[in-house]
Parts: sequence; structure tokens; C-alpha cells
Amino acid sequence: MNEKQRLEMSQIKHGDAADRKSGQDKPLHEKTTEDFAKYFQTTFQPPNINKARKRYREDIEVHYDFEIPEDMKHIGNGKKFLIQTYGCQMNEHDTEVMAGILNEMGYQATTETEDADIILLNTCAIRENAENRVFGEIGHLKSLKVEKPDLILGVCGCMSQQETVVNRILKKHQHVDLIFGTHNIHRLPHLIKEGMFSKANVVEVWSKEGDIIENLPKSRKGKIKAWVNIMYGCDKFCTYCIVPMTRGKERSRRPEDIIQEVRHLAAQGYKEVTLLGQNVNAYGKDFEDISYRFGDLMNDLHKIDIPRVRFTTSHPRDFDDHLIEVLAQGGNLLDHIHLPVQSGSNEILRRMNRKYTRESFLELVGKIRAAIPNVTLTTDIIVGFPNETEEQFEETMTLMEEVGFESAYTFIYSPREGTPAAVMKDNITMEVKRERLQRLNDLVNKQSAESMKAYQDKVVKVLVEGESKRDPDVLSGYTEKNKVVNFKGPKSIIGQIVDVKITETRTWSLNGELVQNTVEVN
Ligand code: 5AD
Ligand code: SF4
Repeated sequence: MNEKQRLEMSQIKHGDAADRKSGQDKPLHEKTTEDFAKYFQTTFQPPNINKARKRYREDIEVHYDFEIPEDMKHIGNGKKFLIQTYGCQMNEHDTEVMAGILNEMGYQATTETEDADIILLNTCAIRENAENRVFGEIGHLKSLKVEKPDLILGVCGCMSQQETVVNRILKKHQHVDLIFGTHNIHRLPHLIKEGMFSKANVVEVWSKEGDIIENLPKSRKGKIKAWVNIMYGCDKFCTYCIVPMTRGKERSRRPEDIIQEVRHLAAQGYKEVTLLGQNVNAYGKDFEDISYRFGDLMNDLHKIDIPRVRFTTSHPRDFDDHLIEVLAQGGNLLDHIHLPVQSGSNEILRRMNRKYTRESFLELVGKIRAAIPNVTLTTDIIVGFPNETEEQFEETMTLMEEVGFESAYTFIYSPREGTPAAVMKDNITMEVKRERLQRLNDLVNKQSAESMKAYQDKVVKVLVEGESKRDPDVLSGYTEKNKVVNFKGPKSIIGQIVDVKITETRTWSLNGELVQNTVEVN
């Protein structure tokens, strides 16, 4: 079956046109239920390296022709939307795109569930607890939908890319009107129209995962920092991870589109961009016509007049020498690298399909430190991978120390249906896993606190983001190495990069005093 046929098969629309009527007189129990498994037969494929290689060769099309159809341009006038976002920055940014589309359709954002005419749950599937929270929220929203039958309730994001989740929603949560996947965001206007007039649930989870849709509108959350997608998907197929299924194959945006977006953000006064991708340093591997990789992109962005460029997340396997050389130039390329290691044990790394060893990871860290002596390294770690022994866990602890990570996101392994690790034997009890997580977190806290102590009495550059959440009289911002700094100062410096002298260090933040002469006078 070719892509076109798969696309046609999986664009699921329910409710006959002749059968459409206003949502107002549409009792919830009338909605059709069907087993959607047949539609997923073409999309839901267990992670597999051979298939990854095959999909790597599929053509990638870039579309520049996104438009809101004429009849939907004002459909939201006088109406409101609310998007609840779960999970990573990629989802946060997808929410900005959906908000942009909805704004262009006339809808305005609200934070009040009761005021919303559209509620979208932009979901995360990375761990089970993320999914449970979403199902809890879907349940809560049922009474609102009963009270307000015209409300359009949608579930999108990574959970919607899973067959089991879609079937569960269709069977147990009939009050959900729309279910659409991560590749279908640009179809939002059509889906909303369908949701308004269709009697049935609208499900659209495209199997076509190889395209890039450019020029989508974006309503960014702030005016200081911005996210910029540089690539989508992941072909690494770590055995624990659901992302290659929910986000599709690795595909890179064209360099000129990224550079233009960053230039535009700089011109609008943004001070920082974070380049987004599941695996940003695989950037460019899929280009067939040009030889242009992540190091080249960073080198080009280095020349743009924007003060700070960050990226997340990188994979140790694709961290090449050219990239290190480019990052070592400094300037707007910051000396903080988030480098997920996941485990310190070679056997666990092998079973995770990470394709590097403890030794090669340490070698990479050595190269990075030699080129960027002041670099701050942070990481992600999973504890309790199936059958992880005490010795293997200890190897993670010693690696954490040996590398000197200044902070880490730590997780207990969560089995994800359809991934190879989910069927691996696991004799380690949850109690043991929790205890290991606690020990690891104690070490992470210790190393974080130590790294903070080094800043005592030092002056750091802080991008001031706004008032501190805890105290409106205090301003808050981030250093180049992404450390939170709280200090007192006038609100007029929000959005500026200022010098702050550190007077107190804590485990996760720094307190300081504004160095007055660094403040720009407007
Ligand atoms: N269980 C626990 N943690 C996971 N991660 C990814 N998949 C799982 C899983 N199944 C973690 C990894 C990754 C981060 C984003 O989430 O550490 O780097
Ligand atoms: Fe998941 Fe990251 Fe591995 Fe890709 S590289 S499979 S996103 S953990």
C-alpha cells in the first residue's frame, strides 16, 4: 500500500453529510462507536530498526500553502478556546501553533473552562502517569459537555497517535468530539467544522508522517523567548520510548525556513530561541540534495543578531566533532548542553538500544569539556529499566558523579505498549525502583547545590523574564547556563539581559542583586 492510499484510508470522517445536524440537538449517546483498529493497521507499527531505515528513505514533502478556508475564517468570532498542554516543549509549541490557527479563525483564548467554546487537550504519552492525568481530565469535562452540548472537546497530541487510546476514548468517553494526531494540526479548521456539524466523533490520525507544513500561524506565549522547531520525529527507536510512533519519522525543516524564522524573531525583539527536536543533532541527516547538518545550522544561527540560542534535546550518538567545534565559538551559542544519558550501565544501554557505551559517552564528555571548558551538562536518567540490577543502578550513580551533571530529569521506567521494552521480563519491584529514584534524586540535588555554590559573589548575565511566581516584588530570569535567578529590580527591565551579583545560592536557584549600570535606559 502506498502513502497516498494509506493517507486516504486513515483520514477518518464519520457521520454522513446527509445526516448532519446542529450539535445542539445531538444527544451524547447517539454518537457512533466503531472499532477503529482497521484504520490503524497501516499506521500502528511496532518500533523496529529495519522499518526505521525504510521510512528514512521515504520522500519528505514541504508544504508552503497552508490557508484557513474562507468559510472558516470568522467561524470563531465572539467565541473562546482553551488548550491544556501536557508534556514536553514540543507540545507547548504545538499548542502555540493551534492557538495561532484558532486566533486566525476568530477565536480568543480563555483560561476559564466554563467560558470556552472549544477545549483541546494536547496530550503526552511518554509515561503512564501522563496518560492517566489526561483520562482524569477527560472524565471531569463530561459534566461540562452535558451542560453545554455545543462545546467542542478535542484530544490531540501524542496520546491520539495510539490505537489503544483512540479506542478507549471512543468506547468510554463519547463526549469527546475530536481526536486528532500530531501530524494533523494543520487540519484543525476542517476538524472543527466537522466537529460542529457531525453527529459522530471526528477522528483523524494520519499515517502520512513524512511531511512538513510550513507557514502555520503561531500565537507565541511570550515576547522574550521563543521555540523554533528544527525537525520532527525520531528514528532512534530506544526500546522504552513511544516517541518514534507518536511523532513519526525524523524529518528536518529546510535551513532557509529556520533561519528566516529566527531572523524574524530577532527583528521582533525576542532575546532567546530554543531549537526543538526529539533529537536535534540528527538534523539534516534526511536531506538528500544538500549536505547540511546541525553543526552547519548552529554556525549559521551564530551569525544572527539574537542574544541566545539553545537547543533541546540532543542524542550522544549524533554529537559530532563539527558540532562541538561550532558550539565552542560561544557568542549566542550558550555553554549549556542537555545530553540525556539514560543509564550508566553498558548492559542497560545495550538493551535500551542507545548505541553508545559508558566509555564512549565519557569520551564524548571529555571532548566537549576540552573544547568548551566552562560547559554545564545536564541529563535525563531512567531508573528501574526491566531487570536493572543493583550494580547496574550503581553504575548510573557513579556516572552521574563522574560526568558532574549539574542537574538531571529523573524518571522511573514506565512500560509503553508497543515498545520492545514493554515485553521484557522485569523482576524488580516498584518499591525498589522508588527507592533507587530517591537515592538518585538525593545525588542530583547534591550536585545541583554544589554547582550553585560556585556562583556565590559572582556576577551573571540574566535574561529577565518577569515577576517571580512566589513574590511579585521579585524579578526572575535565567542565566546563560539556564539557572534561575531571583532578584529585586524595576519591572521596566523585564525582557532585558542584565548583570546580577549572586548573594545566596540554593539547590535549584540563585538569589542576587541587580548591578545597576548594566540596565539599558529606554
Ligand atoms: N519511561 C520512563 N521515562 C521515559 N522517557 C522516555 N520514555 C520513557 C519511559 N517509557 C524519558 C527519557 C527521555 C525523557 C524525555 O523521558 O529519559 O529522555
Ligand atoms: Fe525516544 Fe529520544 Fe530515544 Fe528518540 S532518541 S526514541 S525521542 S528517547
